[in-house]
Amino acid sequence: MSEKLWGGRFSTGTDSLVEEFSASIAVDRRLYAQDILGSMAHARMLGRVGVLTPEEVATIVSGLGEVRSEIEAGRMVFRPALEDIHMHIESRLTELVGEVGKKLHTARSRNDQVATDLRLYAREALDDLRGAVGRLQEVFIDLAEREADTVMPGFTHMQVAQPVSFGHHCLAYVEMLHRDSQRLADARTRVNVLPLGAAALAGTTFPIDRWDVARQLGFAAIAENSLDAVSDRDFVMEILADLAILAVHLSRLAEELILWMSPPFAFIDLPDSFCTGSSIMPQKKNPDVAELVRGKSGRVIGDLVALLVLMKGQPLAYNRDNQEDKEGFFDALDSVRASVEILARMLPGLTVRREAMRVQAEKGFATATDLADYLVRKGLPFRDAHAVVGRAVRLAQERAMALEAMPLTELQALSPLIGEDVYAVLTLEGSLNARRHPGGTAPETVRAAATRARDRLHRE
Ligand code: ARG
Repeated sequence: MSEKLWGGRFSTGTDSLVEEFSASIAVDRRLYAQDILGSMAHARMLGRVGVLTPEEVATIVSGLGEVRSEIEAGRMVFRPALEDIHMHIESRLTELVGEVGKKLHTARSRNDQVATDLRLYAREALDDLRGAVGRLQEVFIDLAEREADTVMPGFTHMQVAQPVSFGHHCLAYVEMLHRDSQRLADARTRVNVLPLGAAALAGTTFPIDRWDVARQLGFAAIAENSLDAVSDRDFVMEILADLAILAVHLSRLAEELILWMSPPFAFIDLPDSFCTGSSIMPQKKNPDVAELVRGKSGRVIGDLVALLVLMKGQPLAYNRDNQEDKEGFFDALDSVRASVEILARMLPGLTVRREAMRVQAEKGFATATDLADYLVRKGLPFRDAHAVVGRAVRLAQERAMALEAMPLTELQALSPLIGEDVYAVLTLEGSLNARRHPGGTAPETVRAAATRARDRLHRE
C-alpha cells in the first residue's frame, strides 16, 4: 500500500523522480491561508446539510486552525511526496485530529479546491495591487501640481514637437494607471465566482449548499457549470493580460526616466538612495531601479504568453497542465506589485531640472505650430500657413536662431499677415497657455485636471 492519499488502486509506490517532478508544494504553499479558509467553509457547509455532525465540523475547523498556526510559525514540514498544499493540509489535519480529518474531502476534489484557492488569492492580490496603483497615481498628481508651470519639450518620433507642461506629462501616467486600475477592478468581478461544488468535474452526489459556501467566502456568485469551473483559467489569463498592460505602462515610464537622467538630456535627477554605482567606473550613478522596472515588464509579458500557450491545447475538463499556471501568475503579481511600490517610493524624490527642459524646448522650434495657428486666425487656410511656417523654420535654421529671434521684417517677408503680436504667440508660455481646453496642457488646465484626478481617485 502506498502512503499516498490516493494510493488505494496502486500496487507500487511512486518513483521518487515522479514525486519531485509533479510536486507543486514549493509554489502553491503560498495558497495555504486560502486553502484553509475554503476547507473551513466547506466543512461548515457539510455540517449544515447533515453530511458531517456538528462535533465533526468543530473538530475539523479547530484542527484546520491549528494547521494554520503551525504553518505560520514555520513548524510545518513540507515534502514533495505530499505533492501540493491541499494534501499537506489535509494529511496534517488528520495527524492532528485523527480519523475525522479524513471526512473533510467529502463532496470535493482538489480540482475545485485549487480553483477556489486561486480565486481567493487573486481577489486579495487585485485589491492590494489596486491600492498600490492608487498610491502611485497620487504621487504623479502631487508632481503634476508641483510642476504644472514647468515647460518641457513634448516629443513625437523622439523629435521636439510642441512645448508641454511637465505636470501634464505626469498626468498622462495618471490616466494610464487609472485605466489599469479599472481593468483590474473589472477582472475582479469575473474572479469573484465560486468553483467549489464542481468536485472533480461532474459535481457531487451529496446534497451540498454551494451558496452557503459562497456566502462564507464572500463570493458574489457560484460557477454555473462544473466542467467550466474546474478547467478554465481565463480569470488568470485576464489578470495576466491586465498586468502585462500595466507593466508596459511602467516600462514606458522607466524608459523615460532613464533617458531624462542621461547627461545629454539631464532633465531630471533621481535620488542617490534609488540609484546604484559601478564597480569599475567611479563616476557612475545609474538608474538601475528604472531599468529593472523596464526589464521586469518582459517577464510579465512572458508569463501571460506562457499561460495562453499552456491553456490552448487542453481538452475539458481538468488536466494536470493547469498546475503550471501558478508560478507565472505569482511571478507577474510580484513583479508588478514591486515595480509599482518602488516607483511610488522613488518619484517623490525626483529632481526636475527646469532650466534644462526649457533650453531644449527653446531649441527645437517647438512653437512652430503656434505660428501656423496664428496665421490661420489671421485668415490663411491651415495648409498654406503650414507651408509659410515651414519656410520660416528653414530660414531660422540656416541662421541658427530661434523663430522668436527673427526680425519682424523677415517674418513679414514670408507672410504680410504677420504683425508685432506674433512674438507673444512664439513664447513657450504663450504656447502652453493657449491650450486651455479640457485635456490641454495650459498650467491652469493641468492644475484643474490634477484636482479632478485626485477626486476621482478618492471616490474609487
Ligand atoms: N496541484 C494541482 C494544481 O495545482 C491541484 C490538484 C489536482 N490534481 C489532480 N491530480 N487532479 O492544479
